[in-house]
Amino acid sequence: MGQMTRIHRFPWGTADDAQVLIVHFGSKSTPMIAQQLRQIGLRSRVIDAQDIPVVTASPYHPKLVIFSGGDDSVANDNAPTIADRDLALFMQHSVVLGICYGAQLLAVKLGGKVATAAIPEFGAVQVQVTEPFGTYAGGSVVMNHNDEIVTLPAGWQVFASTAHCQHALVGTGSVYAVLFHPEVDHTEHGDALLAHVALTLAGCVPDYTYDLAAYVDQCVAWLRHVVPVGDVELGLSGGVDSAAAFALAQRAYGSRLHATFVDTGFMREGELEEVRHWFGTTGVSYLEAADVFLEHIEALPYTGPEPAGEAHYYDQVRRTVGQCFIDTFVRHARQQGRAPVALVQGTNYADIIESLTNLKAHHNVGGLPARLDVTVVEPLAGLFKFEIRQLAAYLGLPEDIVYRQPSPGPGLAIRMWGPVTRMKTNALRRATRILEELIRQHYPDPRQRPSQYYLALAPLPSCGLMGDDRVYGYAWVIRGVTTRDRESYVTVGAFEFSHAFLQDAARRLTNEVTMADGTRFVRVFVEVTGKPPSTTEPH
Ligand code: XMP
Repeated sequence: MGQMTRIHRFPWGTADDAQVLIVHFGSKSTPMIAQQLRQIGLRSRVIDAQDIPVVTASPYHPKLVIFSGGDDSVANDNAPTIADRDLALFMQHSVVLGICYGAQLLAVKLGGKVATAAIPEFGAVQVQVTEPFGTYAGGSVVMNHNDEIVTLPAGWQVFASTAHCQHALVGTGSVYAVLFHPEVDHTEHGDALLAHVALTLAGCVPDYTYDLAAYVDQCVAWLRHVVPVGDVELGLSGGVDSAAAFALAQRAYGSRLHATFVDTGFMREGELEEVRHWFGTTGVSYLEAADVFLEHIEALPYTGPEPAGEAHYYDQVRRTVGQCFIDTFVRHARQQGRAPVALVQGTNYADIIESLTNLKAHHNVGGLPARLDVTVVEPLAGLFKFEIRQLAAYLGLPEDIVYRQPSPGPGLAIRMWGPVTRMKTNALRRATRILEELIRQHYPDPRQRPSQYYLALAPLPSCGLMGDDRVYGYAWVIRGVTTRDRESYVTVGAFEFSHAFLQDAARRLTNEVTMADGTRFVRVFVEVTGKPPSTTEPH
Protein backbone atom coordinates (compact mmCIF):
# COMPACT_ATOMS: atom_id res chain seq x y z
CA MET A 1 0.00 0.00 0.00
CA GLY A 2 1.34 3.39 -0.96
CA GLN A 3 -0.45 6.53 0.04
CA MET A 4 -3.51 6.86 2.30
CA THR A 5 -6.74 5.78 0.67
CA ARG A 6 -8.57 8.78 -0.72
CA ILE A 7 -12.26 8.92 0.13
CA HIS A 8 -14.79 11.05 -1.73
CA ARG A 9 -18.13 11.49 0.06
CA PHE A 10 -21.11 13.07 -1.65
CA PRO A 11 -21.90 16.00 0.64
CA TRP A 12 -25.59 16.11 1.52
CA GLY A 13 -27.52 17.23 4.55
CA THR A 14 -24.55 18.17 6.68
CA ALA A 15 -22.98 21.58 7.03
CA ASP A 16 -20.08 22.99 9.02
CA ASP A 17 -22.28 25.93 10.01
CA ALA A 18 -25.32 23.81 10.96
CA GLN A 19 -27.63 25.23 13.64
CA VAL A 20 -27.14 22.09 15.72
CA LEU A 21 -23.78 20.74 16.82
CA ILE A 22 -23.71 17.16 18.13
CA VAL A 23 -20.73 16.24 20.27
CA HIS A 24 -20.03 12.52 20.13
CA PHE A 25 -18.96 11.02 23.46
CA GLY A 26 -18.95 7.48 22.11
CA SER A 27 -22.57 6.34 22.20
CA LYS A 28 -23.78 3.94 19.54
CA SER A 29 -26.94 6.02 19.23
CA THR A 30 -25.24 9.31 18.24
CA PRO A 31 -26.30 8.80 14.59
CA MET A 32 -29.90 8.64 15.77
CA ILE A 33 -29.67 12.15 17.23
CA ALA A 34 -28.71 13.47 13.78
CA GLN A 35 -31.41 11.33 12.17
CA GLN A 36 -34.17 12.54 14.51
CA LEU A 37 -33.12 16.13 13.89
CA ARG A 38 -33.25 15.57 10.16
CA GLN A 39 -36.74 14.17 10.57
CA ILE A 40 -37.80 17.44 12.15
CA GLY A 41 -36.14 19.30 9.27
CA LEU A 42 -32.76 20.21 10.75
CA ARG A 43 -29.23 19.66 9.52
CA SER A 44 -26.56 19.01 12.09
CA ARG A 45 -22.83 18.79 12.37
CA VAL A 46 -21.30 15.91 14.34
CA ILE A 47 -17.86 16.13 15.93
CA ASP A 48 -15.88 13.85 18.17
CA ALA A 49 -15.53 15.12 21.77
CA GLN A 50 -11.78 15.55 21.36
CA ASP A 51 -12.39 18.15 18.63
CA ILE A 52 -14.40 20.49 20.90
CA PRO A 53 -11.52 23.01 21.29
CA VAL A 54 -11.24 23.33 17.51
CA VAL A 55 -14.89 24.33 17.31
CA THR A 56 -14.93 26.69 20.28
CA ALA A 57 -11.86 28.46 18.86
CA SER A 58 -13.69 29.10 15.59
CA PRO A 59 -16.27 31.81 14.90
CA TYR A 60 -19.01 29.13 14.51
CA HIS A 61 -21.85 29.42 17.06
CA PRO A 62 -24.55 26.76 16.80
CA LYS A 63 -27.96 27.51 18.31
CA LEU A 64 -28.05 24.11 19.99
CA VAL A 65 -25.24 21.87 21.23
CA ILE A 66 -26.14 18.27 22.09
CA PHE A 67 -23.80 16.05 24.11
CA SER A 68 -24.33 12.40 23.18
CA GLY A 69 -24.29 9.42 25.49
CA GLY A 70 -21.18 7.32 26.00
CA ASP A 71 -20.01 4.06 27.56
CA ASP A 72 -17.92 5.55 30.34
CA SER A 73 -18.71 6.72 33.84
CA VAL A 74 -17.98 10.41 34.54
CA ALA A 75 -16.19 9.27 37.71
CA ASN A 76 -13.50 7.42 35.72
CA ASP A 77 -10.14 9.12 35.34
CA ASN A 78 -9.90 8.85 31.60
CA ALA A 79 -13.58 9.41 30.81
CA PRO A 80 -14.12 11.85 27.93
CA THR A 81 -14.88 15.34 29.19
CA ILE A 82 -15.06 19.01 28.27
CA ALA A 83 -12.88 21.84 29.57
CA ASP A 84 -14.69 24.41 31.76
CA ARG A 85 -13.74 27.14 29.31
CA ASP A 86 -15.26 25.28 26.35
CA LEU A 87 -18.48 24.55 28.23
CA ALA A 88 -18.75 28.20 29.23
CA LEU A 89 -18.34 29.23 25.60
CA PHE A 90 -21.06 26.81 24.48
CA MET A 91 -23.40 28.04 27.22
CA GLN A 92 -22.75 31.64 26.31
CA HIS A 93 -23.95 31.19 22.72
CA SER A 94 -26.17 28.11 22.65
CA VAL A 95 -28.75 25.99 24.38
CA VAL A 96 -26.98 22.83 25.62
CA LEU A 97 -28.69 19.44 25.95
CA GLY A 98 -26.92 16.41 27.46
CA ILE A 99 -28.16 12.88 26.83
CA CYS A 100 -27.33 9.99 29.20
CA TYR A 101 -23.52 10.26 29.70
CA GLY A 102 -23.74 13.80 28.28
CA ALA A 103 -26.42 14.59 30.89
CA GLN A 104 -24.24 13.29 33.72
CA LEU A 105 -21.24 15.21 32.44
CA LEU A 106 -23.23 18.46 32.34
CA ALA A 107 -24.59 17.89 35.84
CA VAL A 108 -21.14 17.25 37.32
CA LYS A 109 -19.54 20.15 35.46
CA LEU A 110 -22.19 22.54 36.76
CA GLY A 111 -21.92 21.53 40.42
CA GLY A 112 -24.22 18.51 40.69
CA LYS A 113 -23.32 14.96 41.74
CA VAL A 114 -23.43 11.65 39.86
CA ALA A 115 -23.25 8.23 41.51
CA THR A 116 -23.92 4.60 40.75
CA ALA A 117 -27.68 4.16 40.58
CA ALA A 118 -29.26 2.04 43.32
CA ILE A 119 -31.12 0.26 40.53
CA PRO A 120 -29.41 0.62 37.12
CA GLU A 121 -31.87 0.60 34.22
CA PHE A 122 -31.41 -1.12 30.85
CA GLY A 123 -34.25 -1.30 28.39
CA ALA A 124 -37.83 -0.05 28.44
CA VAL A 125 -38.87 2.10 31.43
CA GLN A 126 -41.94 4.34 32.01
CA VAL A 127 -41.39 8.08 32.36
CA GLN A 128 -43.84 10.44 34.06
CA VAL A 129 -43.78 14.12 33.18
CA THR A 130 -43.95 16.15 36.40
CA GLU A 131 -43.55 19.64 34.92
CA PRO A 132 -44.65 20.54 31.34
CA PHE A 133 -41.87 20.30 28.76
CA GLY A 134 -43.35 21.46 25.45
CA THR A 135 -45.68 18.78 24.16
CA TYR A 136 -43.50 15.95 25.48
CA ALA A 137 -45.91 13.51 27.15
CA GLY A 138 -43.61 10.88 28.72
CA GLY A 139 -44.38 7.18 28.22
CA SER A 140 -42.05 4.28 27.50
CA VAL A 141 -38.39 5.24 27.05
CA VAL A 142 -35.10 3.43 26.58
CA MET A 143 -32.72 3.71 29.52
CA ASN A 144 -29.19 2.35 29.40
CA HIS A 145 -27.36 3.55 32.50
CA ASN A 146 -25.43 2.43 35.57
CA ASP A 147 -25.03 5.95 36.98
CA GLU A 148 -27.54 8.66 37.73
CA ILE A 149 -27.61 12.32 38.76
CA VAL A 150 -28.10 12.23 42.54
CA THR A 151 -27.73 15.95 43.26
CA LEU A 152 -28.85 18.62 40.81
CA PRO A 153 -26.79 21.73 40.06
CA ALA A 154 -28.21 24.84 41.75
CA GLY A 155 -31.41 26.13 40.17
CA TRP A 156 -32.17 23.04 38.05
CA GLN A 157 -35.71 21.75 38.08
CA VAL A 158 -37.16 18.31 37.44
CA PHE A 159 -39.40 17.84 34.39
CA ALA A 160 -39.75 14.05 34.32
CA SER A 161 -38.96 11.00 36.48
CA THR A 162 -39.13 7.20 36.40
CA ALA A 163 -39.98 4.93 39.34
CA HIS A 164 -36.28 4.48 40.16
CA CYS A 165 -34.77 7.64 38.76
CA GLN A 166 -36.17 10.96 39.92
CA HIS A 167 -33.87 13.06 37.71
CA ALA A 168 -34.76 11.64 34.29
CA LEU A 169 -35.27 15.01 32.57
CA VAL A 170 -33.88 18.06 34.34
CA GLY A 171 -32.39 21.48 33.67
CA THR A 172 -33.10 25.16 33.53
CA GLY A 173 -32.82 28.17 31.21
CA SER A 174 -30.46 27.12 28.46
CA VAL A 175 -29.13 23.82 29.89
CA TYR A 176 -31.05 20.53 29.92
CA ALA A 177 -30.11 16.97 30.77
CA VAL A 178 -32.02 13.82 29.88
CA LEU A 179 -30.93 10.48 31.30
CA PHE A 180 -32.88 8.33 28.83
CA HIS A 181 -32.42 8.30 25.05
CA PRO A 182 -34.97 10.52 23.26
CA GLU A 183 -33.24 9.82 19.93
CA VAL A 184 -33.83 6.06 19.65
CA ASP A 185 -36.74 4.31 17.96
CA HIS A 186 -38.07 2.66 21.06
CA THR A 187 -38.47 5.82 23.10
CA GLU A 188 -42.03 7.10 22.71
CA HIS A 189 -42.38 10.80 21.84
CA GLY A 190 -38.60 11.34 21.83
CA ASP A 191 -39.09 13.46 18.70
CA ALA A 192 -41.43 15.81 20.62
CA LEU A 193 -38.79 16.22 23.32
CA LEU A 194 -36.03 17.00 20.81
CA ALA A 195 -38.31 19.26 18.76
CA HIS A 196 -39.14 21.27 21.90
CA VAL A 197 -35.45 21.73 22.71
CA ALA A 198 -34.36 22.46 19.12
CA LEU A 199 -37.23 24.51 17.74
CA THR A 200 -38.72 26.19 20.83
CA LEU A 201 -35.91 26.53 23.35
CA ALA A 202 -32.99 26.94 20.94
CA GLY A 203 -34.97 28.69 18.19
CA CYS A 204 -33.64 26.60 15.30
CA VAL A 205 -35.44 27.08 11.97
CA PRO A 206 -35.98 24.02 9.71
CA ASP A 207 -33.36 23.99 6.93
CA TYR A 208 -33.30 20.42 5.54
CA THR A 209 -35.36 19.03 2.68
CA TYR A 210 -34.79 15.81 0.77
CA ASP A 211 -35.61 16.24 -2.91
CA LEU A 212 -35.00 12.88 -4.62
CA ALA A 213 -34.83 14.21 -8.19
CA ALA A 214 -32.28 16.81 -7.14
CA TYR A 215 -30.33 14.19 -5.21
CA VAL A 216 -30.06 11.85 -8.18
CA ASP A 217 -29.12 14.59 -10.66
CA GLN A 218 -26.50 16.13 -8.42
CA CYS A 219 -25.09 12.82 -7.25
CA VAL A 220 -24.70 11.36 -10.76
CA ALA A 221 -22.94 14.54 -11.93
CA TRP A 222 -20.72 14.39 -8.84
CA LEU A 223 -19.84 10.72 -9.44
CA ARG A 224 -18.70 11.56 -12.98
CA HIS A 225 -16.76 14.53 -11.71
CA VAL A 226 -14.80 12.59 -9.05
CA VAL A 227 -13.99 9.64 -11.35
CA PRO A 228 -13.99 10.95 -14.92
CA VAL A 229 -12.19 7.95 -16.49
CA GLY A 230 -11.19 4.37 -15.72
CA ASP A 231 -12.68 1.15 -14.36
CA VAL A 232 -14.81 1.35 -11.24
CA GLU A 233 -15.55 -1.61 -8.90
CA LEU A 234 -18.48 -2.17 -6.55
CA GLY A 235 -19.25 -5.01 -4.11
CA LEU A 236 -22.91 -5.89 -4.35
CA SER A 237 -24.42 -7.56 -1.30
CA GLY A 238 -28.08 -7.48 -2.28
CA GLY A 239 -28.84 -5.08 0.58
CA VAL A 240 -30.55 -1.77 -0.04
CA ASP A 241 -27.41 0.38 0.46
CA SER A 242 -25.19 -1.37 -2.06
CA ALA A 243 -28.15 -1.72 -4.46
CA ALA A 244 -28.89 2.02 -4.40
CA ALA A 245 -25.16 2.82 -4.76
CA PHE A 246 -25.07 0.42 -7.73
CA ALA A 247 -28.08 2.04 -9.42
CA LEU A 248 -26.55 5.52 -9.08
CA ALA A 249 -23.10 4.36 -10.21
CA GLN A 250 -24.57 2.58 -13.23
CA ARG A 251 -26.21 5.82 -14.30
CA ALA A 252 -22.94 7.65 -13.86
CA TYR A 253 -20.43 5.14 -15.20
CA GLY A 254 -22.31 2.76 -17.54
CA SER A 255 -19.96 0.07 -18.83
CA ARG A 256 -17.06 1.41 -16.73
CA LEU A 257 -18.77 -0.07 -13.66
CA HIS A 258 -18.02 -3.65 -12.60
CA ALA A 259 -20.07 -5.04 -9.75
CA THR A 260 -19.28 -8.29 -7.97
CA PHE A 261 -21.53 -10.42 -5.79
CA VAL A 262 -19.73 -13.03 -3.68
CA ASP A 263 -21.66 -16.04 -2.42
CA THR A 264 -19.88 -16.77 0.84
CA GLY A 265 -21.78 -19.98 1.51
CA PHE A 266 -23.29 -18.32 4.59
CA MET A 267 -26.31 -17.12 2.69
CA ARG A 268 -29.77 -18.50 2.55
CA GLU A 269 -30.38 -21.26 -0.02
CA GLY A 270 -31.28 -19.65 -3.35
CA GLU A 271 -30.01 -16.18 -2.41
CA LEU A 272 -27.46 -15.97 -5.24
CA GLU A 273 -30.16 -16.83 -7.81
CA GLU A 274 -32.44 -14.20 -6.32
CA VAL A 275 -29.80 -11.49 -6.49
CA ARG A 276 -28.96 -12.52 -10.06
CA HIS A 277 -32.62 -12.24 -10.96
CA TRP A 278 -32.78 -8.71 -9.55
CA PHE A 279 -29.59 -7.29 -10.96
CA GLY A 280 -29.11 -9.29 -14.17
CA THR A 281 -25.72 -10.10 -15.62
CA THR A 282 -24.79 -6.90 -17.40
CA GLY A 283 -21.83 -5.48 -15.55
CA VAL A 284 -22.31 -7.85 -12.59
CA SER A 285 -20.22 -10.96 -11.80
CA TYR A 286 -21.52 -13.65 -9.46
CA LEU A 287 -18.85 -15.65 -7.66
CA GLU A 288 -19.55 -18.88 -5.80
CA ALA A 289 -16.88 -19.10 -3.14
CA ALA A 290 -18.57 -21.18 -0.42
CA ASP A 291 -15.84 -23.83 -0.28
CA VAL A 292 -13.06 -21.30 0.27
CA PHE A 293 -14.97 -19.57 3.09
CA LEU A 294 -15.94 -22.82 4.83
CA GLU A 295 -12.44 -24.23 4.62
CA HIS A 296 -11.00 -21.17 6.36
CA ILE A 297 -13.72 -21.05 9.00
CA GLU A 298 -13.51 -24.75 9.81
CA ALA A 299 -9.77 -24.35 10.33
CA LEU A 300 -10.32 -21.89 13.21
CA PRO A 301 -9.72 -23.37 16.70
CA TYR A 302 -12.96 -23.33 18.68
CA THR A 303 -12.40 -21.50 21.97
CA GLY A 304 -15.92 -21.73 23.47
CA PRO A 305 -18.28 -22.54 24.97
CA GLU A 306 -17.67 -20.23 27.96
CA PRO A 307 -18.83 -16.66 27.16
CA ALA A 308 -15.32 -15.20 26.74
CA GLY A 309 -14.20 -18.08 24.54
CA GLU A 310 -17.34 -17.95 22.44
CA ALA A 311 -16.91 -14.17 22.00
CA HIS A 312 -13.30 -14.64 20.92
CA TYR A 313 -14.21 -17.43 18.51
CA TYR A 314 -17.00 -15.51 16.79
CA ASP A 315 -14.78 -12.46 16.54
CA GLN A 316 -12.35 -14.66 14.58
CA VAL A 317 -15.23 -15.95 12.47
CA ARG A 318 -16.22 -12.40 11.53
CA ARG A 319 -12.65 -11.45 10.67
CA THR A 320 -12.11 -14.58 8.60
CA VAL A 321 -15.26 -14.04 6.55
CA GLY A 322 -14.17 -10.43 5.92
CA GLN A 323 -10.67 -11.52 4.87
CA CYS A 324 -11.96 -14.26 2.53
CA PHE A 325 -14.32 -11.72 0.98
CA ILE A 326 -11.47 -9.32 0.26
CA ASP A 327 -9.27 -12.07 -1.19
CA THR A 328 -12.04 -13.31 -3.47
CA PHE A 329 -12.99 -9.83 -4.64
CA VAL A 330 -9.42 -8.70 -5.35
CA ARG A 331 -8.44 -11.95 -7.09
CA HIS A 332 -11.47 -11.69 -9.35
CA ALA A 333 -10.76 -8.08 -10.41
CA ARG A 334 -7.15 -9.03 -11.23
CA GLN A 335 -8.16 -12.19 -13.11
CA GLN A 336 -10.43 -10.05 -15.23
CA GLY A 337 -7.39 -7.97 -16.12
CA ARG A 338 -8.79 -4.81 -14.61
CA ALA A 339 -6.75 -2.15 -12.89
CA PRO A 340 -9.59 -0.24 -11.24
CA VAL A 341 -9.16 3.39 -10.29
CA ALA A 342 -12.11 3.59 -7.89
CA LEU A 343 -14.34 1.57 -5.62
CA VAL A 344 -17.94 2.66 -4.98
CA GLN A 345 -19.31 1.82 -1.52
CA GLY A 346 -22.82 2.15 -0.09
CA THR A 347 -21.56 3.54 3.24
CA ASN A 348 -24.32 5.62 4.83
CA TYR A 349 -24.19 8.58 7.20
CA ALA A 350 -24.85 6.48 10.30
CA ASP A 351 -21.86 4.26 9.41
CA ILE A 352 -19.68 7.35 9.16
CA ILE A 353 -20.77 8.81 12.49
CA GLU A 354 -20.31 5.43 14.18
CA SER A 355 -16.77 5.22 12.85
CA LEU A 356 -15.85 8.68 14.22
CA THR A 357 -14.15 7.25 17.28
CA ASN A 358 -13.42 3.84 15.78
CA LEU A 359 -16.22 2.52 17.96
CA LYS A 360 -17.13 0.12 15.24
CA ALA A 361 -14.39 -1.15 12.98
CA HIS A 362 -16.75 -0.71 10.09
CA HIS A 363 -17.36 -3.84 8.11
CA ASN A 364 -17.78 -2.17 4.71
CA VAL A 365 -15.07 -3.96 2.74
CA GLY A 366 -12.48 -2.90 5.32
CA GLY A 367 -9.14 -3.72 3.69
CA LEU A 368 -10.34 -3.63 0.09
CA PRO A 369 -9.27 -0.10 -0.80
CA ALA A 370 -5.75 -0.71 0.50
CA ARG A 371 -5.42 -3.97 -1.43
CA LEU A 372 -6.70 -2.43 -4.65
CA ASP A 373 -4.96 0.90 -4.18
CA VAL A 374 -8.01 2.81 -5.38
CA THR A 375 -10.00 5.92 -4.60
CA VAL A 376 -13.12 5.20 -2.53
CA VAL A 377 -16.35 6.87 -3.62
CA GLU A 378 -19.35 7.05 -1.28
CA PRO A 379 -22.49 8.45 -2.98
CA LEU A 380 -24.77 7.74 0.02
CA ALA A 381 -22.46 9.17 2.67
CA GLY A 382 -24.94 11.89 3.70
CA LEU A 383 -28.07 9.74 3.86
CA PHE A 384 -29.69 7.72 6.60
CA LYS A 385 -31.18 4.31 5.90
CA PHE A 386 -34.76 5.58 5.70
CA GLU A 387 -33.66 8.06 3.04
CA ILE A 388 -31.77 5.37 1.14
CA ARG A 389 -34.92 3.25 1.05
CA GLN A 390 -36.83 6.21 -0.44
CA LEU A 391 -34.05 6.71 -2.96
CA ALA A 392 -34.03 3.01 -3.90
CA ALA A 393 -37.78 3.16 -4.57
CA TYR A 394 -37.34 6.33 -6.62
CA LEU A 395 -34.58 4.66 -8.66
CA GLY A 396 -37.03 1.88 -9.53
CA LEU A 397 -35.45 -0.96 -7.56
CA PRO A 398 -37.84 -3.85 -6.78
CA GLU A 399 -39.84 -3.68 -3.52
CA ASP A 400 -38.05 -6.75 -2.25
CA ILE A 401 -34.82 -4.75 -2.26
CA VAL A 402 -36.33 -1.48 -1.04
CA TYR A 403 -37.74 -3.23 2.06
CA ARG A 404 -35.01 -5.84 2.35
CA GLN A 405 -33.99 -6.63 5.87
CA PRO A 406 -30.36 -5.97 6.74
CA SER A 407 -28.17 -9.00 6.82
CA PRO A 408 -24.82 -9.11 8.59
CA GLY A 409 -21.80 -9.54 6.31
CA PRO A 410 -20.81 -12.82 8.01
CA GLY A 411 -24.36 -14.05 7.29
CA LEU A 412 -25.42 -17.38 8.80
CA ALA A 413 -21.94 -17.92 10.26
CA ILE A 414 -22.90 -15.83 13.30
CA ARG A 415 -26.33 -17.44 13.70
CA MET A 416 -25.42 -20.62 15.52
CA TRP A 417 -23.63 -21.59 18.70
CA GLY A 418 -20.53 -23.72 19.11
CA PRO A 419 -18.10 -24.24 16.22
CA VAL A 420 -19.26 -23.25 12.75
CA THR A 421 -19.34 -26.40 10.61
CA ARG A 422 -20.41 -27.22 7.10
CA MET A 423 -23.08 -29.55 8.45
CA LYS A 424 -24.65 -26.94 10.73
CA THR A 425 -24.41 -24.32 7.99
CA ASN A 426 -26.22 -26.55 5.49
CA ALA A 427 -29.04 -27.26 7.94
CA LEU A 428 -29.32 -23.56 8.71
CA ARG A 429 -29.39 -22.64 5.02
CA ARG A 430 -32.22 -25.06 4.43
CA ALA A 431 -34.17 -23.93 7.50
CA THR A 432 -33.67 -20.27 6.65
CA ARG A 433 -35.25 -20.86 3.28
CA ILE A 434 -38.27 -22.41 5.01
CA LEU A 435 -38.51 -19.43 7.34
CA GLU A 436 -38.41 -17.11 4.33
CA GLU A 437 -41.23 -19.06 2.64
CA LEU A 438 -43.33 -18.90 5.79
CA ILE A 439 -42.80 -15.18 6.14
CA ARG A 440 -43.89 -14.58 2.55
CA GLN A 441 -46.94 -16.76 3.06
CA HIS A 442 -48.07 -15.29 6.39
CA TYR A 443 -46.94 -11.71 5.78
CA PRO A 444 -47.36 -11.09 2.03
CA ASP A 445 -46.97 -7.31 2.38
CA PRO A 446 -43.25 -6.60 3.01
CA ARG A 447 -44.28 -3.65 5.19
CA GLN A 448 -46.06 -5.97 7.64
CA ARG A 449 -43.01 -8.17 8.18
CA PRO A 450 -40.58 -7.84 11.05
CA SER A 451 -37.80 -5.36 10.26
CA GLN A 452 -35.43 -8.27 10.57
CA TYR A 453 -36.00 -11.97 11.15
CA TYR A 454 -33.78 -14.99 11.22
CA LEU A 455 -33.22 -18.44 12.61
CA ALA A 456 -30.32 -19.50 14.79
CA LEU A 457 -29.24 -23.10 15.23
CA ALA A 458 -28.93 -24.09 18.88
CA PRO A 459 -26.99 -27.33 19.34
CA LEU A 460 -28.70 -27.86 22.67
CA PRO A 461 -29.41 -31.57 22.90
CA SER A 462 -32.84 -32.29 24.30
CA CYS A 463 -35.46 -34.96 24.09
CA GLY A 464 -38.13 -35.20 21.42
CA LEU A 465 -40.67 -37.79 20.36
CA MET A 466 -40.64 -38.79 16.72
CA GLY A 467 -42.74 -41.82 15.79
CA ASP A 468 -42.50 -44.17 18.75
CA ASP A 469 -38.98 -43.12 19.56
CA ARG A 470 -37.59 -40.71 22.06
CA VAL A 471 -34.85 -38.95 20.12
CA TYR A 472 -32.29 -36.46 21.23
CA GLY A 473 -32.08 -33.56 18.82
CA TYR A 474 -31.21 -29.89 18.49
CA ALA A 475 -33.32 -26.72 18.55
CA TRP A 476 -34.11 -23.68 16.42
CA VAL A 477 -34.43 -20.16 17.74
CA ILE A 478 -36.70 -17.78 15.80
CA ARG A 479 -35.96 -14.07 16.15
CA GLY A 480 -38.06 -11.28 14.70
CA VAL A 481 -37.33 -7.66 15.60
CA THR A 482 -39.04 -4.34 15.04
CA THR A 483 -37.51 -0.96 14.34
CA ARG A 484 -39.26 2.20 13.27
CA ASP A 485 -39.48 2.23 9.46
CA ARG A 486 -36.63 -0.32 9.29
CA GLU A 487 -34.20 2.51 9.83
CA SER A 488 -31.78 1.70 12.54
CA TYR A 489 -30.88 -1.20 14.75
CA VAL A 490 -29.55 0.85 17.64
CA THR A 491 -32.52 -0.38 19.65
CA VAL A 492 -34.93 -3.12 18.63
CA GLY A 493 -38.16 -4.54 19.97
CA ALA A 494 -39.38 -8.14 19.72
CA PHE A 495 -41.82 -8.73 16.85
CA GLU A 496 -45.09 -10.46 17.80
CA PHE A 497 -45.43 -13.35 15.36
CA SER A 498 -48.93 -14.66 14.81
CA HIS A 499 -49.82 -17.96 16.43
CA ALA A 500 -50.57 -19.46 13.00
CA PHE A 501 -47.11 -18.51 11.76
CA LEU A 502 -45.41 -19.98 14.82
CA GLN A 503 -47.37 -23.23 14.58
CA ASP A 504 -46.42 -23.63 10.92
CA ALA A 505 -42.81 -22.80 11.70
CA ALA A 506 -42.67 -25.33 14.54
CA ARG A 507 -44.10 -28.04 12.29
CA ARG A 508 -41.99 -27.41 9.22
CA LEU A 509 -38.69 -26.72 10.99
CA THR A 510 -38.88 -29.95 12.98
CA ASN A 511 -40.24 -32.07 10.12
CA GLU A 512 -38.30 -30.86 7.13
CA VAL A 513 -34.75 -30.27 8.33
CA THR A 514 -32.28 -32.91 9.46
CA MET A 515 -28.51 -32.59 9.88
CA ALA A 516 -26.38 -34.65 7.46
CA ASP A 517 -25.44 -36.99 10.35
CA GLY A 518 -29.13 -37.71 11.03
CA THR A 519 -29.56 -35.37 14.02
CA ARG A 520 -33.13 -34.07 14.13
CA PHE A 521 -34.54 -30.81 15.39
CA VAL A 522 -37.02 -31.41 18.18
CA ARG A 523 -37.72 -27.96 19.59
CA VAL A 524 -38.41 -24.42 18.34
CA PHE A 525 -37.91 -21.43 20.63
CA VAL A 526 -38.93 -17.82 20.02
CA GLU A 527 -36.67 -15.06 21.28
CA VAL A 528 -38.50 -12.25 23.06
CA THR A 529 -35.75 -9.91 24.26
CA GLY A 530 -35.32 -6.40 22.89
CA LYS A 531 -32.07 -4.49 22.39
CA PRO A 532 -30.95 -3.46 24.94
CA PRO A 533 -30.30 -5.74 26.78
CA SER A 534 -29.77 -8.20 23.88
CA THR A 535 -28.20 -7.43 20.54
CA THR A 536 -30.00 -8.29 17.33
CA GLU A 537 -27.56 -11.02 16.31
CA PRO A 538 -26.51 -13.81 18.68
CA HIS A 539 -22.81 -13.01 18.14
P1 XMP B 1 -26.55 -6.11 16.49
O1 XMP B 1 -26.45 -7.59 16.55
O2 XMP B 1 -25.32 -5.41 16.93
O3 XMP B 1 -26.70 -5.76 14.94
O4 XMP B 1 -27.79 -5.59 17.18
C1 XMP B 1 -27.34 -4.63 14.47
C2 XMP B 1 -27.53 -4.74 12.98
O5 XMP B 1 -26.27 -4.77 12.31
C3 XMP B 1 -26.18 -5.92 11.47
N1 XMP B 1 -24.85 -6.48 11.67
C4 XMP B 1 -23.87 -6.53 10.73
N2 XMP B 1 -23.82 -6.13 9.45
N3 XMP B 1 -21.61 -6.93 9.24
C5 XMP B 1 -22.69 -6.34 8.71
O6 XMP B 1 -22.66 -6.01 7.52
C6 XMP B 1 -21.56 -7.36 10.52
O7 XMP B 1 -20.58 -7.92 10.96
C7 XMP B 1 -22.76 -7.15 11.29
N4 XMP B 1 -23.08 -7.45 12.58
C8 XMP B 1 -24.38 -7.03 12.78
C9 XMP B 1 -27.25 -6.87 11.94
O8 XMP B 1 -27.76 -7.61 10.87
C10 XMP B 1 -28.26 -5.98 12.57
O9 XMP B 1 -29.20 -5.58 11.64
